[in-house]
Amino acid sequence: MCCGDMGDKARPAGILYTWDKLHVIKRKLEAKTLAVTAGNHDVDSRYKYTDYDAKGLLQSLVPPFPCEDEKLNDKFWARNYIVFSEPDYRLVILNTSAYHGAKEGEFEHGRITPRTVEALKAELEVLEHEQPRRVNILLCHHHPHNHGDIEDKDVSLMEGGAKLLELLGSGDYGNWIVIHGHKHHPRISYAAASISPPIVFSAGSLCARIYEELQGQARNQFYVITFPLSDLDTLELGLIGTFQAWDWLPGIGWQRATLRSGLPASGGFGNRGDITSISKTIATIFASKKQPWVEWNEIIGAFPQVSYLLPISLQAIIKKLESNYNLTVSRDSDGQPLQIGRSL
Ligand SMILES: [Fe+2]
Repeated sequence: MCCGDMGDKARPAGILYTWDKLHVIKRKLEAKTLAVTAGNHDVDSRYKYTDYDAKGLLQSLVPPFPCEDEKLNDKFWARNYIVFSEPDYRLVILNTSAYHGAKEGEFEHGRITPRTVEALKAELEVLEHEQPRRVNILLCHHHPHNHGDIEDKDVSLMEGGAKLLELLGSGDYGNWIVIHGHKHHPRISYAAASISPPIVFSAGSLCARIYEELQGQARNQFYVITFPLSDLDTLELGLIGTFQAWDWLPGIGWQRATLRSGLPASGGFGNRGDITSISKTIATIFASKKQPWVEWNEIIGAFPQVSYLLPISLQAIIKKLESNYNLTVSRDSDGQPLQIGRSL
């Protein structure tokens, strides 16, 4: 998956280079699908490299963009989204840069219009009736809800994002994860108020130069996201998953992420359980082992729900274990829990 912004301000050389490299990665991973969407830096809304046709370069890419099926590509440009139904998942690719180039200033933010939300809803009604899915993914470029924890005012938000989250969170079309780019600030959160709040995975940038205000809090990252099909059935927590994250360090290369990278080396999402009761369960499991130290993997074996906690929830639980139960959690060099033991 690539959340868009293959180039910089739609400069063709960057987009052509990245489109080629994405296919190299696809081949090397032997991936069945390469899912990509358009970012604000892929649509020529500023410099008119492509004769006033803002989407012209993307439409002339080889292999075709965003997918191999030109009929679906026409729908992507005409209706601003496409849907793939695979046996284990459903994937919606949304174009939140659809109106860039049409109006002054539009390129500064994303947009989904009420018409697009309604069209997506109508299609999901049919698909959910015929082919319900446990894993539902929406890939887009701009963030659908506020991401203002660094900037006071978040001006590049997807306009209409609240309506999109309301649709996906209605519970009528399965449980959803939204995977987006644009912010360069890796973060996982849950959408606000809805029946089944979507998970919102803000992917960091693979290789853009990190903005100065983000440099202490984020790195260039890529991820492997896993949806555990068997645990989805047995744990009944809704949509759950895990991720692994890698950082790019200039002069060093790719290495496992750390606690200060944006997203840590590994973690989960989807378990929204109460951290007080989860802490209590972990303390009870530890006590039942009657050992001075217990491997964290043993805790997960007995209580697999722990794997699907957000990184911030896991940190809060570790804090509770240490303060309320007199336990210590040792960590590996990436900051991940290794063992749990009684504090001396
Ligand atoms: Fe962007």
